[in-house]
Amino acid sequence: MSDKKAFPEHVAIILDGNGRWAEKRGRERTFGHQAGAANVKTIVRAAGHMGIKVLTLYAFSTENWKRPALEVRFLMRLFKNYLISQLRELVVDNVQVHIIGDVSALTESLQKEIDACERETAANDGMVLNVAINYGGRREIVRAAGLMAESVKKGEMDISEITEESFGSFLYPSASSDVDLLIRTGGESRISNFLLWQASYSELYFTPVLWPDFTEAELRKAVTWYTTRDRRFGGLNEEES
Ligand code: IPE
Ligand code: IPE
Ligand code: MG
Repeated sequence: MSDKKAFPEHVAIILDGNGRWAEKRGRERTFGHQAGAANVKTIVRAAGHMGIKVLTLYAFSTENWKRPALEVRFLMRLFKNYLISQLRELVVDNVQVHIIGDVSALTESLQKEIDACERETAANDGMVLNVAINYGGRREIVRAAGLMAESVKKGEMDISEITEESFGSFLYPSASSDVDLLIRTGGESRISNFLLWQASYSELYFTPVLWPDFTEAELRKAVTWYTTRDRRFGGLNEEES
């Protein structure tokens, strides 16, 4: 089976390199996060125009709490400001916003903005934007296992109904589709606990470009690269089958 998709439907991006971007300029890491947040606006708009259906952005991992408290606090404030300042534009652009991850660990005021943003964009039927905050791929899988166990315990499903498909339905719904193209900026070639289930057959695009420098043209470059891939999913390519 060969499935050369002309265009990636679900694109996920690991936004990495903000700190180094700032350090290169002799500035604090937080300066890089600010530039990174500004770039999120640019790339969200670009992805919408390009016709990407689902865009999932990794903004804060379950491991990022290890960073200095000041940096963490700054990031949390940035997330809140992003949601407040971008809401109107996201509504106008018909973007449906979801936050994936364990939001219960976030401050009440950030949770309030998350609720408002999700509620006010819920009826939008354009691009789905998932922002992963306090997200870990392992944690998402363990959460899904727990929800599924609960469902079995309640008698809503039988153990014999546990399949890859039914398991997938316990993941965060808005981000549960297979990731076609997974991009990581900032030069590292690792997944860092992002979308472990959904990325099982993703095309992986690693670029040295630091996130604040990742322009619309860079996104187009990644998508163009994707269109040249031969996605075999364990089968043979078109010429051989
Ligand atoms: C990514 O940039 C943003 C977050 C993880 C929140 P980094 O802060 O990891 O930047 P580098 O990798 O240190 O340059
Ligand atoms: C991955 O970046 C997490 C996010 C972009 C949110 P990190 O900078 O935290 O990853 P590592 O530590 O280099 O793997
Ligand atoms: Mg990093």
